[in-house]
Amino acid sequence: MEKTMGTIISPSILSADFANLERDIKRVEESGADWLHIDVMDGHFVPNITIGAPVVKSIKRVSSVPLDVHLMIENPEKYLQAFKDAGADIITFHYEAVSDVPLVINLIKAFGMMAGLSIKPKTPAKEIFKFLPLLDLVLIMTVEPGFGGQEFMHECALKISEIKQNATENLIIQVDGGINNITSKICVSLGANSLVAGNYIYGHSDIAQAIRSLK
Ligand code: DX5
Ligand code: ZN
Repeated sequence: MEKTMGTIISPSILSADFANLERDIKRVEESGADWLHIDVMDGHFVPNITIGAPVVKSIKRVSSVPLDVHLMIENPEKYLQAFKDAGADIITFHYEAVSDVPLVINLIKAFGMMAGLSIKPKTPAKEIFKFLPLLDLVLIMTVEPGFGGQEFMHECALKISEIKQNATENLIIQVDGGINNITSKICVSLGANSLVAGNYIYGHSDIAQAIRSLK
């Protein structure tokens, strides 16, 4: 997969209307979305339950952009095969959820998917420096994972530049949580090259304009 020039925008379908998911996926795709961000939650790693591999499989049938799957689950390694079979292109799992990070990264890559590692707001960036050479993507959470529509935590933003300083040029640095036309600028100026946004995009009266304002 070629890296898109500029900022990769990955709308979070957590803010879509699940009863009209195909319509809401097409809406963001036609409005310039580069990827589709799919938030998978298990009610254990985070206090919410969302969707699993069967829904990803259905999404794959009606979408034309890479599926960026954010696993907020315990034991992510158990489900990699299912998400691969469902059509996931990028799998991001949480540093806090596993004991053997390189093992999970290698499994994701062995399945032919891009590997991402995410850190929660309270996890220092330096804890994952050693994994950066193994990764395709780092996801910095700027809200406590679990729900859309929360406010951007400014204190997490400096982690973007810490990762940037320690990364190779090809690493995708993605930010997720409370992204809008203002917070996006802060993230990009610090080195982010991919932004996830749910409420801002789906809550906007002009979705194409919302995506343009993030780019
Ligand atoms: C939160 C999820 C996010 C969420 C972002 O746990 O990982 O992807 O959907 O939603 P907004 O952009 O509304 O903060
Ligand atoms: Zn997410």
